[in-house]
Amino acid sequence: KRPFIIDCDTGTDDAIAIIAALYSDEVEVRAITSVNGNVEHKYVCQNNLDLMEYLGQDVPVAKGAVKAIRDMNLHSNDGTHGPTGLGTLTLPAAQHKQFDPRIAAQVIYETAVEEKGELELLVIGPMTNIAIALLQYPDLPGLIKHIWFMGGAAVGGNVNTTAEFNIWVDPEAAHVVLESGIPMTMAGLDVTLKAAMIEEDAAELRACGTRGADFVADLLEFMFRRRDNGHEDALMHDALALGAALCPECLVCKDCFVDVECFGQYTRGHTAVDLKGRSGKPANVSVALEIDVPRFRRWLVDTVKNSAKLGDK
Ligand code: BDR
Ligand code: CA
Repeated sequence: KRPFIIDCDTGTDDAIAIIAALYSDEVEVRAITSVNGNVEHKYVCQNNLDLMEYLGQDVPVAKGAVKAIRDMNLHSNDGTHGPTGLGTLTLPAAQHKQFDPRIAAQVIYETAVEEKGELELLVIGPMTNIAIALLQYPDLPGLIKHIWFMGGAAVGGNVNTTAEFNIWVDPEAAHVVLESGIPMTMAGLDVTLKAAMIEEDAAELRACGTRGADFVADLLEFMFRRRDNGHEDALMHDALALGAALCPECLVCKDCFVDVECFGQYTRGHTAVDLKGRSGKPANVSVALEIDVPRFRRWLVDTVKNSAKLGDK
């Protein structure tokens, strides 16, 4: 199996990506590391811990960065993910599972060393933990096989006209990660905005009846209600980054040079994606540009339904 660490700000769609990774035949989730983002860090950590205990998963959960590298502000989302990150759902509070005593950056580094260059990172929140790890452990780039991230956009943004939330929260961190030389793939907002699940998907998962599939169906139903109240679709921003790793056929990608605007008056957090090669700089990111939505939805539903085969309750 492919060893992964998931660095996340759970988050409704983060939770769905985590569940898909847990039940994929191809992946071994080696740890979950938490970062401030969709909701405050304390909620993210608790969501990750509760989710692992609820699903009976013996996966280490680590705390991570509370604030962004430079501006030290604690940016959290606007309530899109509900008051504590899982919509209106509440998981039973973990009774037995404890946090890993190590901080995220240390977990990432030590796991990378153990995996001898095979570790892949699924990065689906602000990139602060990854940047801290890179700044602290200079040999880390050579130990990471690939980073699959949700963040940025070739065009547009969701915080302002040009910045996507994960990158906007901590542009300096994203810059450190993008210039690390680690092979990476970007599932940006302009593509993830198309990755919407529909009622049929929730019904199929509900019929599957496992704890994991039921929880994803609950999250989707929360998202449908939110959509019906005029907010965004049931968008699988984060699961699409996992899809890039596990179902590459559902995306068309292009190798491009990508960097982040850290200074702009209006554009801080904008990902400059050099689609036409005008900068003359070598490509550092494989950027998703097109998505086969039915294929992606099929893959995601099937992967979560795999929980039945793996003996989830
Ligand atoms: C990103 O921000 C969060 O709302 C989602 O979890 C996703 O990672 C989309 O901009
Ligand atoms: Ca996220």
